[in-house]
Amino acid sequence: MTGSSRSAKYFFRPLAVGAPTPLTEVPARPSRAIHFFDPSNEKMAAKIPAMVGTVDVLLGNLEDAVKADNKVAAREGLVKIAQSTANLGGQSGPTQLWTRINSLDSPWVLDDLTTLVPAIGDKLDVIMVPKVQGAEDIHYVDRLLAQLEAKAGLDRPILIHAILETARGVASVEEICGASPRMQGLSLGPADLAADRRMKTTRVGGGHPGYLVRQDPQVKDGAADIEGPRSIFQQDLWHYTIARMVDACAMHGIYPYYGPFGDIADVVACEDQFRNAFLLGCVGTWSLHPKQIAIANRVFSPSVDDILHARRVVAAMGDGTGAVMLDGKMEDDASLKQCLVMVRLAEELAAIDPELKKQYDAIETVA
Ligand code: GLV
Ligand code: MG
Repeated sequence: MTGSSRSAKYFFRPLAVGAPTPLTEVPARPSRAIHFFDPSNEKMAAKIPAMVGTVDVLLGNLEDAVKADNKVAAREGLVKIAQSTANLGGQSGPTQLWTRINSLDSPWVLDDLTTLVPAIGDKLDVIMVPKVQGAEDIHYVDRLLAQLEAKAGLDRPILIHAILETARGVASVEEICGASPRMQGLSLGPADLAADRRMKTTRVGGGHPGYLVRQDPQVKDGAADIEGPRSIFQQDLWHYTIARMVDACAMHGIYPYYGPFGDIADVVACEDQFRNAFLLGCVGTWSLHPKQIAIANRVFSPSVDDILHARRVVAAMGDGTGAVMLDGKMEDDASLKQCLVMVRLAEELAAIDPELKKQYDAIETVA
């Protein structure tokens, strides 16, 4: 902490008189898929009530992908959907309600916040803030939300989720994650981040065939066969950023997410990207099309095999100390801790996903 930072003992005081007390811990609510919809699109909006209970998070998008002429309609559409859809958002519903507001330098964001919080603040679980550059952006939203929550008489704080999509944001990622007790998590924003970094890609997330490693050349007639056949492997353009996000989030007790995967048709590569993020520590991802919800739910739920193994390790490790051999492999306190991460996640997911609960419960019968 630098000399001018707020003291730790004041960190959890409301930033406005009458605002709800900040949370000391971010609730671990399942959020495998954050499904984006455009509230100005009436056809899409009409499908929302039927999606409640089928996806962990529904997010009304007000930012990019909504045309400038539709910004007001999107904001008003979101208010209408939140007010008229049963069981959406707030603390008890099966599906959380999030929004992505416009960027802090845009002409729309002030009206986004001053409209949404009084109208539907009790339903909004998380506000996603795009193009975050540093902790000062979070501080701005933090104070404004406290003022608006106080005025609206809300009794629980709305949380903030930042999109990591600027080079400076990546360089300041730890500071952003720790900027407020409202911080819920971070998503990767690969499209804006690529542009901001001046990467030479034209895609929304995913790999690139040009970003690869190539096997050494074979030797032919005593010389390297440069033009001969060699294996190549595509590398993951996003590995570095996701790994940084995961550490920054874990360090601050908040949650990391993949972001958009724009090639809707390529469900296979989408699943690969999501799985890489899951294995590295992410808890969920965005969904831009209903078919990505199923992929996300599958990938971000531990597999039945993993839970079977994890439960065996937990049972074999007794009081959690020492080491045991299982199937020829050493298990100890540290592998037990990994298994407990999986088992706890499975319990949280089973509590809201009856289909998954059935699969995990069936393990007990077999084991
Ligand atoms: C998401 O907002 C992105 O820019 O990738
Ligand atoms: Mg973006």
